[in-house]
Amino acid sequence: MESLIIDCDPGVDDMVAILLAHHVANVKGIVTVSGNVPVATTTWNALLATELLQVNTPVYRGSSKPLESEPVHSEHVHGSNGLGGVVRIEQRRVSEEKGGVDFLLEEASPEDWIVALGPLTNLATAIQRDPDWVERIRGISMMGGSTTHGNITPTAEFNVYADPEAAAIVFESGADIRMCGLNLTHQFLTSDETVKELHGIDSDLAKFVTPMLKFLLDRMESLNGRRFAALHDPCAVLAVTHPSIFGFEELSVHVELSGTLTRGMTVCDQRTTRMREQPNVWVAQEIDAATALSLVVGSLKSP
Ligand code: RIB
Ligand code: CA
Repeated sequence: MESLIIDCDPGVDDMVAILLAHHVANVKGIVTVSGNVPVATTTWNALLATELLQVNTPVYRGSSKPLESEPVHSEHVHGSNGLGGVVRIEQRRVSEEKGGVDFLLEEASPEDWIVALGPLTNLATAIQRDPDWVERIRGISMMGGSTTHGNITPTAEFNVYADPEAAAIVFESGADIRMCGLNLTHQFLTSDETVKELHGIDSDLAKFVTPMLKFLLDRMESLNGRRFAALHDPCAVLAVTHPSIFGFEELSVHVELSGTLTRGMTVCDQRTTRMREQPNVWVAQEIDAATALSLVVGSLKSP
């Protein structure tokens, strides 16, 4: 089984990704970052996931704000507690003394994939402090960016938009990067059919995820007028553990930092000519969504 370090901003889809990761891989640690909600809340939520899973995976609190810009959150999608207002199950777990970036720098090793599910602030800070760090990890599998349109702006995806300076540092770092952008994750959609399927599973994990997913579908209906919700973050887990269900293309990807309309856009060179720039990222372009969904549902059947 692959060894993962999850860097995340739980977040409904982050929570599903954490539960999935513990079923399909070895999770060495969880690092939290400010993103969907502030880092105190993402950290509490990550601890709750370990409680639900009944595992001792250590949780390390990471960056509370982006490298240069002000924090950006998405309570309008994930709810004020980041978990869709799901009734919080009491848990008394606390994060580790060591900070998230220190954990990444000191304890990530060459067989560890960093699965980045939120803004890339922690990873960028690690690279700023030690550029050789990327040589000491297996690679980075990230949910973020897009080869097509954005979500938080017409051109930018939330994780990259929330800290574009950090994303630029990661994309320029020379790391082995797999990118699951919106072009990919919007192929992995859940619906009321998924909720119905989860209702049929008699497990604490399914009972926890079902109301969160329903909340997300309700939000998507009010925001987009359609009851479909992309399961973004689990894609970045599966891109490491089940790469055969994806189609990847090696592309040049760079982050726009100063565009009035395009700040936070991942500029992917997909020109059909031979003039393409030197590739630096394995970009996921297709996914076998049915297999991906069966893997996610299967991970909720028991801790
Ligand atoms: O744009 C989708 C991404 O932003 C996902 O990681 C979601 O959890 C939010 O962080
Ligand atoms: Ca996320």
